[in-house]
Amino acid sequence: MPPNLPLSDAAVPRREAQFVRLAETQREPLSFFIDGREATALQGDTVLTAVLMQQRRVRESEFSGAPRAGFCLIGACQDCWMRTEDGTRLRACSTLVSAGMRVVTRLAGMAATVAAAPANGDPQ
Ligand code: FES
Repeated sequence: MPPNLPLSDAAVPRREAQFVRLAETQREPLSFFIDGREATALQGDTVLTAVLMQQRRVRESEFSGAPRAGFCLIGACQDCWMRTEDGTRLRACSTLVSAGMRVVTRLAGMAATVAAAPANGDPQ
C-alpha cells in the first residue's frame, strides 16, 4: 500500500463530517460509540476529533438546542462539553478517545444525566 493511503475507515473523509484527516493516517484504529452508534477513531485522537471526523457537531446547546462543534480546540472556551452514557462530563477537545468509550451528543440522551448533575455552576 502506498504510504499516503489511509489504513482504516477512521482516516477516510466522510461527507457528513466536520473534520477531514490530512495527516497521521497510519495510527492504530479503535472503536467507540456516538449516541449508541459504533464509530472508528485513531489512537491519540481527542474525543472532539473522533466525533467531528464522523459528524458536524459534538452536542446540542442546552439553551437553544443549536448544534455545537467546539470553538477554541484548546480547552479554553467550554463549547465542547460532552457526556458519556454514564453521565460523566468531559471536555472533548482535551480528552483522548478510548476503545469502547460511549459518548452522547443529543439532549435526549443526556436528559437523565443532566437531572442528576450537581447544582454547582459547572457547565452542563
Ligand atoms: S473547544 Fe473550546 S474548550 Fe473545547
